[in-house]
Amino acid sequence: MNGNDDRAETDGGTAEGSARTEGGPSRFAPADRVESVPPSGIREFFEVAENRDDVISLGVGEPDFTAPWAARSAAIDSLERGRTSYTANRGMLDLREAIAGRVTRYGQSYDPDTEILVTTGASEAVDLAFRAFVNPGDTVALPTPTYVSYEPGVRFAGGEPLPVHTHHEDDWALTPEALLEAGADEADVLVLCYPNNPTGATMDADEMDAVADFCREHDLLVIADEIYAALTYEGDHQSVATRPGMRERTVVINGFSKAYAMTGLRLGYAMGPETAIDAMTKVHQYAMLSAPTTAQHAALSAIERCDDEVERMRREYDRRRRYVVSRLRELGIDVAEPGGAFYAFPRVADVAPDGDARAFATELLEAEGVAAVPGTAFGAGGEGHIRISYATGLDDLKEAMARLERFLS
Ligand SMILES: Cc1ncc(COP(=O)(O)O)c(C=O)c1O
Repeated sequence: MNGNDDRAETDGGTAEGSARTEGGPSRFAPADRVESVPPSGIREFFEVAENRDDVISLGVGEPDFTAPWAARSAAIDSLERGRTSYTANRGMLDLREAIAGRVTRYGQSYDPDTEILVTTGASEAVDLAFRAFVNPGDTVALPTPTYVSYEPGVRFAGGEPLPVHTHHEDDWALTPEALLEAGADEADVLVLCYPNNPTGATMDADEMDAVADFCREHDLLVIADEIYAALTYEGDHQSVATRPGMRERTVVINGFSKAYAMTGLRLGYAMGPETAIDAMTKVHQYAMLSAPTTAQHAALSAIERCDDEVERMRREYDRRRRYVVSRLRELGIDVAEPGGAFYAFPRVADVAPDGDARAFATELLEAEGVAAVPGTAFGAGGEGHIRISYATGLDDLKEAMARLERFLS
């Protein structure tokens, strides 16, 4: 506590009217494990973009759509009815039942009473999984490039991240060879994120079988972040938890942010064997109590009433995906075909000054006002690449590609 009363300003109080206490320099220093985590590579880059008003941002990792009306109206209705209390720690039972019904489409089967926990976004579920299963000094294998929150999450939990390089040439799929090469056979936990942020990679059935075999053989626990499962464009979504002997060693994480364009409502969930969900619920119950009640009502309606809209958004992302990939290739930029999510991860090393993707992204931003995220923001495996998000309208994508063409010439 610093003794300042921030409400005085936000409530319209005046500086004269409020008794502000001028303190000395802050006595706080971050704990070592917080200090050890560098600031987000994405945020740092976008601070530059914020200072210009002609920027087309291909950097955002959230849908450009608004949540479906049926979800929003259910949120409004829940407020009108005065449903403003906590729910059960695990989330509303009818929502957990709806989730259990929904995930059968991926071949997953979980008991809504004991095997599902509703969380404040998939982000909370990821954090709970690290805190519930990682002991100090445990090794957590993280394929790279990958989503930015895993490495800090592992460190905050006292674990040691182990990067496992995936490659453009393999369409960014994770292979047993890559796992072995990185020493993941000695790891305690493996994090999987397919469809992947930032590469858009998906795994086909054989590739997923091979990773599952590796995890069983080397006795790894798996945290499978499947938040983009519903945004799969090529083939069916493959979940590692459906492979023989994997359900008992896997926690699956999913959520409403991406498929239902509900990022601001902050709702996700974790599914796994009862002992795993019990452990995560213990952390959740002390850290969060329960996920937001209004958002839970919205999520229930989203599952029950929004399939058509999700499909409409998925088709639109797919159209943009095909446009972006073909345009990049036309410009001579090599890009692996993204099979899911809403990102493309082209290799710019061949066209960048000194092969440096960060310099490429900075110059593209400065010269043409197109913001894309340098690949290294997603770990060392992203070297030489940039992330392009196509959660951006087609007109903006077309303009961005025209500017990119001009930049390259
Ligand atoms: C792979 C992945 N997992 C989790 C999240 C966070 O999701 P949520 O909004 O549900 O916390 C994101 C958001 O970008 C993501 O890309």
